[in-house]
Amino acid sequence: MELRRWRGTLKFYFLLLLLTCALAKLKKERERKKVVKMKSESDNLCTIVGTSAPFHCFCSDGSASNATKAKCWVFSGLTAEHSFWTLFSTQPFIRELNLMVTPMGQLNFLPTSGLQYLTQLQTLTILYGNISDIHAYALANLTKVHEVRLAKNQIITLSQRAFAHLTNLSVLDLEENRIVELNRNVFFDLPLLSKLLLKLNNISAIQEGAFRQLGQLVELDLSANAISVLTKDVFAGLLELKKLFLRYNKIVMLGDLTFAELWILEELDLEGNLIELISDRAFAGLTHLFKLNLSYNKLKTLRSNLLDSVPAIMDFDLRHNELETLTLDNVKPILHNFHNGNGHFYLADNKFVCDCRLAWMHALRNEAKGEKIREALDKLTCHLQKADGESSIKPHADAVLNRRPNTSTGLDYAGEDVDDTVYYDDDDEDEQPQKSSPENLRRVLEIPPSELPCANASTTQAPRILLNTPSYAEINSNSGAICQFYTVLSCCIFMLVGVS
Ligand SMILES: *[C@@H]1O[C@H](CO)[C@@H](O)[C@H](O)[C@H]1NC(C)=O
Ligand SMILES: *[C@@H]1O[C@H](CO)[C@@H](O)[C@H](O)[C@H]1NC(C)=O
Ligand SMILES: *[C@@H]1O[C@H](CO)[C@@H](O)[C@H](O)[C@H]1NC(C)=O
Ligand SMILES: *[C@@H]1O[C@H](CO)[C@@H](O)[C@H](O)[C@H]1NC(C)=O
Ligand SMILES: *[C@@H]1O[C@H](CO)[C@@H](O)[C@H](O)[C@H]1NC(C)=O
Ligand SMILES: *[C@@H]1O[C@H](CO)[C@@H](O)[C@H](O)[C@H]1NC(C)=O
Ligand SMILES: *[C@@H]1O[C@H](CO)[C@@H](O)[C@H](O)[C@H]1NC(C)=O
Ligand SMILES: *[C@@H]1O[C@H](CO)[C@@H](O)[C@H](O)[C@H]1NC(C)=O
Repeated sequence: MELRRWRGTLKFYFLLLLLTCALAKLKKERERKKVVKMKSESDNLCTIVGTSAPFHCFCSDGSASNATKAKCWVFSGLTAEHSFWTLFSTQPFIRELNLMVTPMGQLNFLPTSGLQYLTQLQTLTILYGNISDIHAYALANLTKVHEVRLAKNQIITLSQRAFAHLTNLSVLDLEENRIVELNRNVFFDLPLLSKLLLKLNNISAIQEGAFRQLGQLVELDLSANAISVLTKDVFAGLLELKKLFLRYNKIVMLGDLTFAELWILEELDLEGNLIELISDRAFAGLTHLFKLNLSYNKLKTLRSNLLDSVPAIMDFDLRHNELETLTLDNVKPILHNFHNGNGHFYLADNKFVCDCRLAWMHALRNEAKGEKIREALDKLTCHLQKADGESSIKPHADAVLNRRPNTSTGLDYAGEDVDDTVYYDDDDEDEQPQKSSPENLRRVLEIPPSELPCANASTTQAPRILLNTPSYAEINSNSGAICQFYTVLSCCIFMLVGVS
């Protein structure tokens, strides 16, 4: 009896075991089939399926076997040697590739092993990766690629030859990364590169000759970095550069010949630095420069012959500095550029002192045809120095701020079209912050030139004494034909003023 019961139980357990085994085998079989199925659907870059895939691509333009555009979302789990990268070989006609790293995803290398298959690639964009280093030949020497955008990838270092042998590359965008320095040979054999964008990085050091290979570069954007020192050799080799953006860095001074290698530079943007000093020949060689932005710096004076080497400047911004004056000597080389209609000359928000060194502004106001420049001059204010003796002028009733201009001041304004609605729009952002008491602030052009005090002249009336002020004296010592012409001209103007 007992034995029979025992055998029955044994039989039952045996059956149970058999069943379990069968089920397990079935499950295994099913899984095997599933794997096979996934593999067949996943052997093409454009048709990857399965939640475990490290990225998904959406392809367009062309049939499934020869797409020309692919946009891929990158998840995590990829390594540089992952077999998935070989899937790029299934779509060799891709011309435009976009890799977007998803918020939960991660990509911390440039997928060179995948890129090498894309021999037709023309534009490559990778966004939101965590790629701390760009290694040598990272873009696989692709010969057709002409635009590479690697913004916002947390890139810190660029190895030597990181960008090399890309014979058709025209635009390289590395904005909004954390690049710390630019070494020599990072950019190597890029014969057609014309735009290099490095804005919003953390660059503080640029090795001499870092751009030496970039003979076709037209635009270099280094804005919003941490650059404090510039030397001539940094820019060596940039023979075709036309636009150089250095705004919002930490540059304190510009030494002689800093830009001398940039033969045909046209635009130089140095806005928002800490520049206190610009040496005499800092801009030497920039004969094509027509736009210079020095706004938001810390300039107190300009060297008298600084602009001699940049005679083509038509767009000049000196706003938000600490200039106490700007002499005729300073601006003489570029004044003629403002006589026709196109130029811009911004001077607001400085610390100009009302004295005869600003007298040239009256003449420029008369000569300039451009509305913008006349407007800027009309709004320009200066501070009356506290009187030390007779050199101060009595506050001119009509010269106080916020009043209509009195157009019958000293100079001959004949021919000018006074438009009351344009001037003295005091909400304008160019308005001088009222640092000194308002009664000391005057609009420069509302003070007749004959009443602009001279620092050490005993009287402000006679033109003879005006000629003795430092700026005019220096003109004479410079003794160029043009200078003498200007002296004579100014002299005549002031004599006329004195007479009338
Ligand atoms: C892509 O394939 C289609 C046929 O599948 C063909 O007609 C077309 O020419 C191919 N395009 C390229 C760029 O090879
Ligand atoms: C980025 O990568 C570095 C190492 O390469 C790692 O330490 C860091 O945590 C990563 N950051 C993110 C947001 O994934
Ligand atoms: C790119 O060229 C360099 C130098 O010729 C070579 O060492 C490297 O292997 C090449 N890389 C690829 C992916 O072809
Ligand atoms: C180089 O890039 C240009 C676009 O800038 C493209 O039109 C041209 O076909 C490319 N050349 C080669 C040889 O791929
Ligand atoms: C920028 O670089 C400096 C060192 O040069 C480093 O201390 C700082 O953390 C970096 N900032 C960022 C945002 O990477
Ligand atoms: C100089 O920079 C300032 C600030 O960005 C800008 O408003 C101004 O237009 C620039 N000047 C010129 C001449 O472009
Ligand atoms: C302008 O100022 C002159 C003196 O400089 C004065 O004679 C004249 O009345 C003023 N004109 C107006 C409209 O205030
Ligand atoms: C005026 O000042 C200059 C220097 O600013 C000085 O050389 C000159 O002697 C002074 N002239 C008079 C009359 O004080």
